[in-house]
Amino acid sequence: MSARKILVTSALPYANGPIHLGHLVEYIQTDIWVRFQKQRGNLCYYVCADDTHGTPIMLRADREGITPEQLIAQVGKEHLADFIEFGIAFDNYHSTHSEENKAYSTLIYERLRDAGHISSRSITQAFDPVKNMFLSDRFIKGECPKCGALDQYGDGCEVCGATYSPTELKNAVSAISGAKPVDKDSVHYFFDLANFSDMLRDWTHAGHLQSEVRNKLAEWLDGGLQQWDISRDAPYFGFEIPDAPGKYFYVWLDAPIGYMASFKNLCDKQGLDFNEFWSKNSDAELYHFIGKDIIYFHALFWPAMLSGAHFRTPSAIFAHGFLTVNGEKMSKSRGTFIKARTYLDHLNPEYLRYYFAAKLSAGVDDLDLNFDDFSQRVNSDLVGKVVNIASRCSGFIAKRFDNKLSEQCSEQALFDEFVVANTHIAELYEAREFGKAMREIMALADKANQYIDELKPWLIAKEEGKDKELHEVCSMGLNLFRLLAVYLKPVLPVLAGNAESFLNIEAQVWPVGTQPLLSHAINAFKPLMTRVDAEKIVAIVEASKENLEKTAEAPTERKYEPIADTIEFDDFAKLDLRIGKIIKADHVEGADKLLQLTVDIGDETRNIFAGIKSAYKPEELEGKLTLVIANLAPRKMRFGLSEGMVLAAGPGGKDIWVLSPDEGAQPGMRVK
Ligand code: MSP
Ligand code: ZN
Repeated sequence: MSARKILVTSALPYANGPIHLGHLVEYIQTDIWVRFQKQRGNLCYYVCADDTHGTPIMLRADREGITPEQLIAQVGKEHLADFIEFGIAFDNYHSTHSEENKAYSTLIYERLRDAGHISSRSITQAFDPVKNMFLSDRFIKGECPKCGALDQYGDGCEVCGATYSPTELKNAVSAISGAKPVDKDSVHYFFDLANFSDMLRDWTHAGHLQSEVRNKLAEWLDGGLQQWDISRDAPYFGFEIPDAPGKYFYVWLDAPIGYMASFKNLCDKQGLDFNEFWSKNSDAELYHFIGKDIIYFHALFWPAMLSGAHFRTPSAIFAHGFLTVNGEKMSKSRGTFIKARTYLDHLNPEYLRYYFAAKLSAGVDDLDLNFDDFSQRVNSDLVGKVVNIASRCSGFIAKRFDNKLSEQCSEQALFDEFVVANTHIAELYEAREFGKAMREIMALADKANQYIDELKPWLIAKEEGKDKELHEVCSMGLNLFRLLAVYLKPVLPVLAGNAESFLNIEAQVWPVGTQPLLSHAINAFKPLMTRVDAEKIVAIVEASKENLEKTAEAPTERKYEPIADTIEFDDFAKLDLRIGKIIKADHVEGADKLLQLTVDIGDETRNIFAGIKSAYKPEELEGKLTLVIANLAPRKMRFGLSEGMVLAAGPGGKDIWVLSPDEGAQPGMRVK
């Protein structure tokens, strides 16, 4: 088999905040895969960069009284230091604020423009008259037009989940200056994504995507593709559009081009051929590891941009799920928003690498970091099973055999079984089924421990004339340990490296056809890993509890709707769903979308505000049946208390349906 040529990327972390454990899911996942490829003898490059452009970075620099360039230089250093300590072995780490990125962004833009994929028109947008800048949805705050909740951002309500445009917000103010925004016109540049509908439809079904992602994309494609606004007005920290002074590329235009830029930077340092990896007829593989929140950018915009600018498209996009801590979204007040640096101050990074590996699969499911589970897995698998084999056997080899392994192997068959396992373990690594790979490896570790438990070297050692047997059993133990170390090497490079020094061997490649070490001198054993100290975990959580007011941060750029998580049956079963009869419906003074309903749910009547005014006149609703969630916690709204939720379906506007009266249905009937 000839070596594959592979270029791998992880998403570029924003330069406006520190690396946290959620990010690390991705960088550790990618790093394991890359290390595996290299260990297999493939030519594999792993590049990344800081994502440095955009309004939040500009504003943060402003607040800190430094230039954006100073800010990104500082943050870039911190990010890289964190990554290095977690063993993330980038071949290159660059910045989107670089010459290379400017050159490729310009080139791609010009090629798209010349091919007729860019258009421009004037749009009206909210403008902050104090700061003299346009306000994206995320920078406008006001009252939710649907439920009246205060202090909601311009793109959606965190209380009721409604999405709307910022012009619908009540009493809107700029989140930056507090001034009342005014409407202002400005010319924007758009990428005509719809020109790529056919291309994307084909691409989506050509094996580049996980099935969950493919389905999501099919939905987006069926919904029709909108023009993508790729320009922002000054002041903006980014690249000025070549033929449009005062207009800048939107951060998400140049961010993925940052993958190319970082690779180009590497090519220039190492004399590699950029085109071999990026030209249309490239025979190299290109993979992007990303979180599920940024699929839209990577699976729609990015392949379209590349194809429109005559570059190759990715071989695959590998999306992963989100990290929760102890079952919940990471939270500063609970101390579960844990920065990479805080973790590094207290615990061995390889614990986390192993834990994530054990929990990762090839899908987009979220994964949970549960600290009890974390300690238990690391202690029982790594310390209790793997390292234990080496410590059990090495003592006798040192004391009785001068640190030299036996001339013969007592159990060639067992050793061969461990070697043969390499094929399946390799398949699992290749398919990013790391959790399954870890289970295979731990099953081998169990076998090695069983072997030692059965032969009991500690008893043999006490018998006269059994030196040869003792020597062979302990040597076998260490030979098996050696194979466990090589299988774990993509995940635990430090542990595996220390095992190699202890065993006095070269850096191990993937063990195809490996033979046991015989008559081989090894080095003194040093403990390879200690148990997780529970107090350190407490310390991490404590150190992560921040004063929430102090850390109120500028909102970040909003991303596209992620793939919704599935809920368990238990979650569904919590809903008290009933048939309700609308006995009264009224307009709500001052609300554009809401109607006030009085609903008979059998044993009582409820007051419910429902956003279905676009579809029904109040009088049309009276007498109709509907589905009601009866056990939703009541919510205080600007207009009064809403005591439940009415379920209606439809695309919106005029098309929202509630149930019509039906002879058999009675208010209060429960829905099973
Ligand atoms: N800058 C963009 C990516 C541009 S790529 C051309 C961005 N940055 S980010 O810092 O917000 O996220 C970087 C990566 O980390 C993303 O793939 C994101 O999905 C991932 N994660 C951020 N928080 C995460 C979790 N809590 N859990 C798992 N992954 C997470 O998006
Ligand atoms: Zn709301």
